[in-house]
Amino acid sequence: MSEASAFDVRIVERRAPAPNHVELIVESRTLAQALPGQFCHVLTPGTLRRPISFSRLDPSADQAGLLLQVVGSGTEWLYQRRPREWLNVMGPLGRGFTPPEAGRPWLLLGGGVGIPPVYAAYAVWRSRAESAAVILGARTAAHLIMADDFRRLGSEPVLTTDDGSQGFQGTVIEPARAWLLEHPYAQVTACGPTPMLAALYQATQNHKGPVELALEQRMGCGIGACLACVVPAPAARYRRVCTDGPVFRREELVF
Ligand SMILES: Cc1cc2nc3c(=O)[nH]c(=O)nc-3n(C[C@H](O)[C@H](O)[C@H](O)COP(=O)(O)OP(=O)(O)OC[C@H]3O[C@@H](n4cnc5c(N)ncnc54)[C@H](O)[C@@H]3O)c2cc1C
Ligand code: FES
Repeated sequence: MSEASAFDVRIVERRAPAPNHVELIVESRTLAQALPGQFCHVLTPGTLRRPISFSRLDPSADQAGLLLQVVGSGTEWLYQRRPREWLNVMGPLGRGFTPPEAGRPWLLLGGGVGIPPVYAAYAVWRSRAESAAVILGARTAAHLIMADDFRRLGSEPVLTTDDGSQGFQGTVIEPARAWLLEHPYAQVTACGPTPMLAALYQATQNHKGPVELALEQRMGCGIGACLACVVPAPAARYRRVCTDGPVFRREELVF
């Protein structure tokens, strides 16, 4: 079990990137030093915390971003927060993504609220990669977030939606499969809902490069104590998403 202490951070900016979504920029030297793919556990009314990934990391300004979609009472409470208010957080927690290796093409895949940590990885590490392709997917155009953020950094992401309301109709897996055939040694960085990651897991069975998947499992304590977040691992073992992940190498998981 890892030690983690809670502390307060001030909200300095509130953005509304899409209906039902909010991005809170908080001031914190500690959180700004996080690795893309790590998360912070934010206190919401009651005693429960909610895990949220970092959407932006700016150590020069001591700022980090938390972009979330409202799905229940905790995220609804966070949606209502305003600049100059405070959040109680634990973090940065968990294992982040591995930076892209020099000389290897890099594929970034983000689905729904899995897009923010993938964007953070791209923003921090894009200059290290030989080349980077970005594929973003969501249920509908209204759920497809951060495409403009990628464009501002010079990327032209491929977009997919389940209903075809923006980009290609379908999931990120079809364009990813085609791209990976052309780039068999590419490094893959992905975060999204479980069905997307399960499909990517299958699609990369014979892929020769490193594949990392960030899971969005439901959590309790966030620090390795309660086992609420365990997922199956090879050899009939289990792994805790909060401390062993949320980022896992493909070979560490079983879908
Ligand atoms: C490591 C990690 C990083 C995350 N990063 C983000 C992020 O950057 N942005 C973001 O919007 N969300 C993120 N999530 C998901 C977020 O934590 C949940 O949406 C949130 O905890 C829901 O709290 P709630 O009180 O609003 O909803 P609840 O009342 O707890 O649940 C409402 C509904 O959402 C479902 N739900 C709750 N938690 C999850 C989950 N983890 N995965 C799938 N369904 C869930 C419930 O089954 C229920 O149907 C992350 C989760 C993890 C584990
Ligand atoms: S959430 Fe408690 S062990 Fe992972």
